[in-house]
Amino acid sequence: MLDGLRAMLEDDGYAVSCTTDLTSAMARLQREAFDLVVTDLYLGETQLGSHLAEVAAMVRPRPPVIVLTGRPSFGGAQEALRRQVADIVVKPVDANLLLATCDRVIQETLLARRNSELETANRVLSSVLPRTIEMKDPTTSGHAERVVGYADRLARHCGVNDEDRTSLRLAALLHDIGKIGIPDSILTKPGPLTPDEMEIVKRHPAMGYEVLASLEGQDNVRNWVVQHHERWDGKGYPYGLAGEEVALPGRILVLAEVYDALAEERSYKPAWSVTKICALFRDQAGRQFDPELAHLVADGLERQGKRFFAQEAGSLF
Ligand SMILES: [Fe+2]
Repeated sequence: MLDGLRAMLEDDGYAVSCTTDLTSAMARLQREAFDLVVTDLYLGETQLGSHLAEVAAMVRPRPPVIVLTGRPSFGGAQEALRRQVADIVVKPVDANLLLATCDRVIQETLLARRNSELETANRVLSSVLPRTIEMKDPTTSGHAERVVGYADRLARHCGVNDEDRTSLRLAALLHDIGKIGIPDSILTKPGPLTPDEMEIVKRHPAMGYEVLASLEGQDNVRNWVVQHHERWDGKGYPYGLAGEEVALPGRILVLAEVYDALAEERSYKPAWSVTKICALFRDQAGRQFDPELAHLVADGLERQGKRFFAQEAGSLF
């Protein structure tokens, strides 16, 4: 049977390593990297399959295990095994079924590994980068993460689609990344900035756009980052875009960013009350802010206080 399996798998393009002995199978598993383990469930009275599955579970990267059994109705054992093995194939083995199962299990494992790598990359992006910005500008601790929550809450309220919401969360997280290019002496200067220093600070949205140039397929993220200091009346920077020249998610980001700056205590000012924030939003409706958005937020804050921006816990991405 082993010879038959080897021939079947090799014909299909697999490189196969065989053994009939549990001890050597376990040793090989720990020594070599396998993409897949195919094993009989029983060798005599020994539960070969479950032993191997246990060993495989400790190997990194963990190879998936397919178990062959002639006793599929052996209920309890089968169910227990299902928790550890990728799949079970019933003997006598149907060649096409086994090959299809091998192929599927390998693909699923590769996909799971790729997803886990992407998750790690996302965790790096969503935790390391905001900390990097904060190290440059320690006055804004936790600012980026809070702006993500506020912007997303508003976006959902305004019916922004899922794809744009994902881009907006990323833009909110990275909106001040361009501050990396501003000298520390200016960013951490106590007291007011000179007009020349102010001009340098105003370069940070465009620098953010440059920093994110290598993010492929994320034009919206870059656009909303570069636009986060634009104003509805066109008096913002860097381009002086007005009204709907900035797309809705970008206008939401502007508002969310200012809300956090007002609602939190900064070295140069205490946290503003809801009443004071609402007064500013109404006053700046149609000037700094999209008027509809500004009134929507002011209405919400007056109704619910700061709970208006409360976000249920969940992953950012
Ligand atoms: Fe900024």
